Amino acid sequence: MKKLAEVYVRAVGAYVPPRRVTNDELAQTVDTSDDWIRSHTGIGARHLADESVTTSDLAVGATKDMLKRHGIQLPEIGAIVVATSTQDYLGFPATACVVQEKLGLQVIPAFDISAGCTGFIYALEVARGLVATGTVPSVLVIGAEKLSAITDWSDRNTCVLFGDGAGCVLVQGGQGGEGEIVDSVLHAEGSGGSYLCIPQGGTSAPFDTAVPLQGHKLHMDGRAVYNFAVRVLKEVVDELLSRNHLVIEDIDWIVPHQANSRIISAAAKRLKIDQAKFFMNIEDYANTSAASIPIALREMEEQGLLKRGQRIMTIGFGAGLTYGGNLIIW
Ligand code: UT7
Repeated sequence: MKKLAEVYVRAVGAYVPPRRVTNDELAQTVDTSDDWIRSHTGIGARHLADESVTTSDLAVGATKDMLKRHGIQLPEIGAIVVATSTQDYLGFPATACVVQEKLGLQVIPAFDISAGCTGFIYALEVARGLVATGTVPSVLVIGAEKLSAITDWSDRNTCVLFGDGAGCVLVQGGQGGEGEIVDSVLHAEGSGGSYLCIPQGGTSAPFDTAVPLQGHKLHMDGRAVYNFAVRVLKEVVDELLSRNHLVIEDIDWIVPHQANSRIISAAAKRLKIDQAKFFMNIEDYANTSAASIPIALREMEEQGLLKRGQRIMTIGFGAGLTYGGNLIIW
């Protein structure tokens, strides 16, 4: 068997659309309030893309940010994987192929991963495999979502929760670089699929042109997903620790999917750790699904919070129901 290469996160980038919508602004169109949203979720505002902007535009924005800040040239990208639930097109072409075309990249592998809010975790591990086996020298892993396009703006139970944006990392092989991806755990409980879904439009319930559109927006049983999230967050942390013979004190940062600050508080309590070990930026961006973890990493990098040698856990959970985590030695 071929010797597996070590795989590193070389660079991080992010992009959110410029339009920032506060809770107070939302409260002018749906029956909600800044007080309710903050106290139940920790969200203060979200960035929303204009109608003409697509998920691939957000992904390209994040990529350009990464290339510029890290002085990386386009040909250094060996493959593109986009984790998203809000593809530019229903089915195909893959959003990753649209990104490739927009970046003007030559022939390379490009495909999407659909694993809900856990998409970035899955994509990072798939990228690690591609690089470790020598299939490609590097992979641009993007989490990108235009959730505003699948949000029912008349449903206060869900519309206050989500935002648009994209984040990315460049994963590559090598020796002794920064950011080695050491381990990942990936899981799914398909039995909970109906708790978070878009009921219509797929092959199980195709659109019927004879009836008005309905069921084509995001539907969520918030309480069921909340309970699932708190449970699996602890499970993934425990699993990554035990697989790698570590204890929680060995971990410098946990970067969770940014879904709800109360989920993090409850999980921290169960893990018996200080909530400060979790990086949170949900207040500014709301829940950007597969984009939330790379956006958080980009912000941590900018704030100087990521230091060489630190052990970082990224933990995701969401539609599927999927969940998982990566252990990275920064
Ligand atoms: O990305 C991963 C997927 N998503 C998640 O992880 C989300 C997981 N779930 C949650 O974060 C929480 O369950 C929510 C934030 C969605 C809801 O919080 P909750 O404490 O579970 O509230 P609830 O659903 O029990 O609703 C409490 C009340 C209800 O009123 P009644 O029926 O008790 O009179 C809702 O109608 O709050 C009402 N409500 C609102 N009120 C004002 C729900 N949404 C709103 C709103 N503004 N936006």
